[in-house]
Amino acid sequence: MMERKKVLVTGAAGYIGAHTVVELFNSGYEPVMIDNFSKSDKTLLSGIRAITGKDFKFYEGDCNDNIFLENVLSQERELSCILHFAAFKSVGESVAQPLMYYKNNVGSLITLLEVMKKFNQNKLIFSSSCTVYGQPDSIPVNESAPFKRAESPYGATKQMCERILEDVVGNGFKIISLRYFNPIGAHPSAQLGELPVGAPNNLVPYITQTAAKVRNKLTVFGNDYNTPDGSCIRDFIHVVDLAVAHVRAMEFLDRAQSPTLLETFNLGTGVGVSVLELVNEFKKVTNVEVPFTIGPRRPGDVEKVYGDPTKANKLLDWKTKYSIQDSLLHAWQWEKKIRGI
Ligand code: UFG
Repeated sequence: MMERKKVLVTGAAGYIGAHTVVELFNSGYEPVMIDNFSKSDKTLLSGIRAITGKDFKFYEGDCNDNIFLENVLSQERELSCILHFAAFKSVGESVAQPLMYYKNNVGSLITLLEVMKKFNQNKLIFSSSCTVYGQPDSIPVNESAPFKRAESPYGATKQMCERILEDVVGNGFKIISLRYFNPIGAHPSAQLGELPVGAPNNLVPYITQTAAKVRNKLTVFGNDYNTPDGSCIRDFIHVVDLAVAHVRAMEFLDRAQSPTLLETFNLGTGVGVSVLELVNEFKKVTNVEVPFTIGPRRPGDVEKVYGDPTKANKLLDWKTKYSIQDSLLHAWQWEKKIRGI
């Protein structure tokens, strides 16, 4: 039995944060959690308890608030690492409300780094995104591809955050930045999943809510892109696979000898799937119809992107385990559970 290690998880009541907390418990860690419930509620915290049978320490507050974070870090002195999930993540919303995105996403990282410095905490896992690449020149894209202009303010916040990490790392930090492709799916137990506040912005919750007849129909945003079927292409990765990668990333930080370090890793499957293919696959896997219509392109969308995960496969000893069919089935099981279907 390994020594229990305390880790701090910001945004722990969110979709990726909550799934990661479960994997942290599974690997013998002791997660301490933060969330301000601005884009989440307590439902996923109950799901974590149901799956793990564990209780946990939870602080409600905002990562933009220095006093709040100083209070947490003064009470939690023996942290082995901080995982920073807390951020806004909707491409479309960021186009409509850019300042809210810059303030929340960039501001909270700066605040967290200041407070980490003050309390001599130096290990950080940062939630970045493949949107940092913009529309890459070639796909699958690997970590050394240059950043193109971000297509959305959301993407720009992640580029800025990565630049901040580059600039501060020399001040004694050990940091891993994980560039997520498109996380989908839910916990196989159906106790955890995506729980958007209001109408979903992301594709898979929109599909499952349409299948559950909560929404009338899905709108596919654009079928005139330069792709085989005209719809956008993404790299959809099961959220549990993504969660497991965080545990591996912490192990990598623990092994690293160097006093300062910044590494970035793509977390994707390496396979591109179009929006229309995903909708069809959902029907095949679940036998449930998803009425859809074709609408105009959504501002801020990248045409096609999928990732080369070789670096994470090798250095983190990690690879994806779940298929796209598993992801869609698990997402549907979760939707049915929360709707009582
Ligand atoms: N889409 C639709 N209809 C919808 C919702 C989405 O056609 O109702 C399309 C989008 O136009 C896009 C694709 O489905 O082509 C995926 O859209 P999502 O909103 O699900 O995902 P994004 O690719 O825009 O963004 C997501 C996360 C980001 C992350 C990004 C990386 O929300 O945090 O993946 O690609 F950075």
